Amino acid sequence: MIRKLTIDNYDDIVGLWNRADLSYKPEGRDSRLSIASEMEANPDFFMGAYAGNKLVGTVIASWDLRKGWINRLAVDPTYRRKGVAETLIAEAEKVLRKKGAKIICALIEGYNSGSMELFKKCGYVEDRDVTYFSKRESNKV
Ligand SMILES: CC(C)(COP(=O)(O)OP(=O)(O)OC[C@H]1O[C@@H](n2cnc3c(N)ncnc32)[C@H](O)[C@@H]1OP(=O)(O)O)[C@@H](O)C(=O)NCCC(=O)NCCS
Repeated sequence: MIRKLTIDNYDDIVGLWNRADLSYKPEGRDSRLSIASEMEANPDFFMGAYAGNKLVGTVIASWDLRKGWINRLAVDPTYRRKGVAETLIAEAEKVLRKKGAKIICALIEGYNSGSMELFKKCGYVEDRDVTYFSKRESNKV
């Protein structure tokens, strides 16, 4: 079952990301403060998959007025290959389309073939000509 996440779920969210071995930025954009302010701006963008009361999956949508993005997709290792991520992607797409998104994207690290297979199954098209560049204040952000 998919539920909206709130800042009260922060510890569970981070616990899940650790269990899922997802890399995140606890001192940067994934700090409690940053997440709280993003949630305030877009409360629909933070979604959790639950098995009973246990948080077993997360996704964070984001919308930059040109494109929608799928971020922090993670599923508890014991709940994988049951379609949880597919459902989370579909929910994120729904809220992004409501915002007006006509293109929805995800950045996937080169080693992450499982995630690439997942996005392909969900209808995403890979563009191998693109290299990700960024300019950061530090590696923590
Ligand atoms: C990637 C991840 C989110 C997938 O979650 P999941 O709930 O197991 O995925 P689903 O069950 O919805 O998978 C749907 C389809 O995606 C593909 N897929 C998912 N994981 C796969 C894997 N490890 N290897 C190959 N294909 C995979 C399959 O086609 C699968 O369908 P199938 O099970 O019928 O074969 C999960 O493995 C995870 O949390 N990984 C660590 C964090 C991470 O890499 N996040 C993504 C960052 S971009």
